[in-house]
Amino acid sequence: MNIALLGHGVVGSGVTSILKEEKVTDLAVSKILVARKESIKDDRFSLDFEEIINDESIDVIVECMGGIEPAHSYVKRAIEAGKHVISANKKMLANHMELFELAKSRGVKLLVEASCGGGIPCISNLQRIARNDPIFSFEGILNGTSNFILSSIFEKDLGFKEVLKKAQELGYAEQDPSDDIKGYDVCYKSVILSYFAFSKIIDPKDVFTLGIDTLSDEDIAYARKNNKTIKLIGKAGYESDRFYIYVMPHFVDERSLFGSVDSNYNIFQSSSKYLGKASFIGQGAGSYPTGHSIVQDLLDLQQKKYTEERPAFRGLVENEREGIFYIRCRDHSFDELKEEMITADSFLTRECSLRKIQECMKNCDDETMFIGEMDL
Ligand SMILES: NC(=O)c1ccc[n+]([C@@H]2O[C@H](COP(=O)([O-])OP(=O)(O)OC[C@H]3O[C@@H](n4cnc5c(N)ncnc54)[C@H](OP(=O)(O)O)[C@@H]3O)[C@@H](O)[C@H]2O)c1
Repeated sequence: MNIALLGHGVVGSGVTSILKEEKVTDLAVSKILVARKESIKDDRFSLDFEEIINDESIDVIVECMGGIEPAHSYVKRAIEAGKHVISANKKMLANHMELFELAKSRGVKLLVEASCGGGIPCISNLQRIARNDPIFSFEGILNGTSNFILSSIFEKDLGFKEVLKKAQELGYAEQDPSDDIKGYDVCYKSVILSYFAFSKIIDPKDVFTLGIDTLSDEDIAYARKNNKTIKLIGKAGYESDRFYIYVMPHFVDERSLFGSVDSNYNIFQSSSKYLGKASFIGQGAGSYPTGHSIVQDLLDLQQKKYTEERPAFRGLVENEREGIFYIRCRDHSFDELKEEMITADSFLTRECSLRKIQECMKNCDDETMFIGEMDL
């Protein structure tokens, strides 16, 4: 099989290294697109996408360049040209879920294991489970950067800003870490996972998304005092037949399964009718783990070992799921939900729905507000 890589950064170089080290001779990377002249290493490298798309000998295009454009246009053109596509780019995919239908209509595969959970095989397992076992819900710690920040805060007793700076120095967090710490990255992954779990196409704008960017010492102290730690978790599923999908910090017991997934590790857990709960833990990012997922997709393509996708439909998000929430807010927008005061600004709510929290948030002017769900 003849492969072209779009991008040769952290992920792309992981793919070429694995194929080279494991001597996978029948998967040949014959073209590699990069943005800058300085990135050109040998005669497979090119700065010109046209050269790649017009090469009829290329069977598969692996997109690991990131960003929405031009990644989306390149993937679309590759599918239209009858080439299989593998992508690690959750942001682009979640914003262009129509690409899956396009691939089906053109009789090519769009495989995206590397887009969710890095090296963890969440999508392939989710697809296998969903074949004959209705999935009720899933939840996951799906962002390595925020998990590294949160576990450093709790293990090493450091402040949020200090840890973020360290994560940037170590290359775990980008210079603009918004997608990671504001929850958008988990939002994109939850949209993609909902497609495979529930055959639902969800607009990322419909996902109730909160991050850890406003986390304060006060919130951390409350978690510590109650033997809890804080994790950023994406959840989706059905409650009384109504669909919910949201990303939110959670106060979880230190000794629970989710509480013990630390550093850049991720966990994905599905809950289905016959299998019950099934959990997958592993490295959620990095060159080799993510490269591994792409190589798995390449091997599945080569051996035609993939699960056929089921028809998918636009999904309505109702967010009727109920919980108890920790809220720190300096104005009165959440007054009707207050049940137990913790400090002058923070309190636990009575049991209420996500939709109710969203409604109250519309009246809130406090940009430093922090909300986390209590895992009871
Ligand atoms: N890093 C991870 O651990 C990880 C894990 C899972 C998924 N992902 C996803 O994988 C994708 C790639 O991430 P990465 O960390 O590998 O990124 P990266 O290290 O920044 O590499 C990006 C690569 O794409 C090339 N590129 C970017 N824009 C381009 C353009 N317009 N035209 C041609 N080439 C272009 C860059 O070229 P130059 O080399 O010339 O700059 C570089 O080789 C992203 O969608 C990311 O979300 C990453």
